Amino acid sequence: MNESYANYSFHTPVLAPQVVELLITRRDGLYVDGTVGGGGHTRVLLDHLDDTARVIGIDQDPEAVAYCRTQFSTDSRVLIVHDNFRDLKSLLEAKSVEKVDGILLDLGVSSHQIDSASRGFSFQQTGPLDMRMGSFQPSTAAEILNTWKGEDIANLIWKYGEERQSRRIARAIVRSREANPIRTTDDLARIVRGAVGGRYQTKTLARVFQALRVHVNQELEALEKVLRDSVEVLKTGGRLVVISYHSLEDRLVKQFFRHEASTCVCPDDAPLCTCEKTARMRILVSKPITPRDDEIQTNPRSRSARLRAAERIT
Ligand SMILES: C[S@@+](CC[C@H](N)C(=O)[O-])C[C@H]1O[C@@H](n2cnc3c(N)ncnc32)[C@H](O)[C@@H]1O
Repeated sequence: MNESYANYSFHTPVLAPQVVELLITRRDGLYVDGTVGGGGHTRVLLDHLDDTARVIGIDQDPEAVAYCRTQFSTDSRVLIVHDNFRDLKSLLEAKSVEKVDGILLDLGVSSHQIDSASRGFSFQQTGPLDMRMGSFQPSTAAEILNTWKGEDIANLIWKYGEERQSRRIARAIVRSREANPIRTTDDLARIVRGAVGGRYQTKTLARVFQALRVHVNQELEALEKVLRDSVEVLKTGGRLVVISYHSLEDRLVKQFFRHEASTCVCPDDAPLCTCEKTARMRILVSKPITPRDDEIQTNPRSRSARLRAAERIT
């Protein structure tokens, strides 16, 4: 196991009481933690489940998988799987699991990943510009910045970072790499700071790093796929709980839940409903749940969390 993970203090799960309340419908059920990470949520779930319950914990990060396999080695209710959650359906089929009682997705990166300089996720730490969460991604962030056309880099920063100065930043990246390849988080941070100046540099840096991470890990594509798979594998009455940390993810989850809960997708001006759509889910929380001030104080990384939940109906 990676040494830094071995020394890693226990992960603080975000919105844990709310997850327990919304996810667990039966104490002897079968649950999937699709983003097991440091095992924080899985541990809390296990505390509320019977001896006959089961939890399948999935993570694409081999370090998280190794850590959780050790953490839960003595609990026969837990199975830790190294995979990408976008393959949820086939992964469950391979384990002869047809339907589950609940699925939790706590999206994004773990504290451990952000704090590991060698992973390149943070502009506050010096490290290689990698940003891959696991071995399932083909390119590192550095490969993208050093090989893509400037226009494509600008589009990426705009699309996944919603950064208005994307063109200016992309031009600075291209100019800089002509002199020297971009290799580290510091290289990129210096280029971005030089390109934008002013008071909002930190926010811009966060958006640029987010954009690269979302693309490198194909986060939105994986999320779309796992949402679709989840509806298929949930039992009637089973719950899907999703915690997201940026507006792109949250929007996708909101729209997906709305679509699955709607009974008509005909155009607004259609005189009659002809689509014959049926609702497959019931939305459980009308507005996303966010952490209270005391949670944000003890766990500042929870501040951007937004939890949405829905139930599978027939
Ligand atoms: C915010 S952390 C989860 C922390 C966890 N809930 C806990 O309490 O310890 C997100 C985790 O999801 C994993 N992850 C993100 N996208 C994934 C995907 N598409 N498939 C599998 N794991 C993913 C990351 O590697 C990371 O370990």
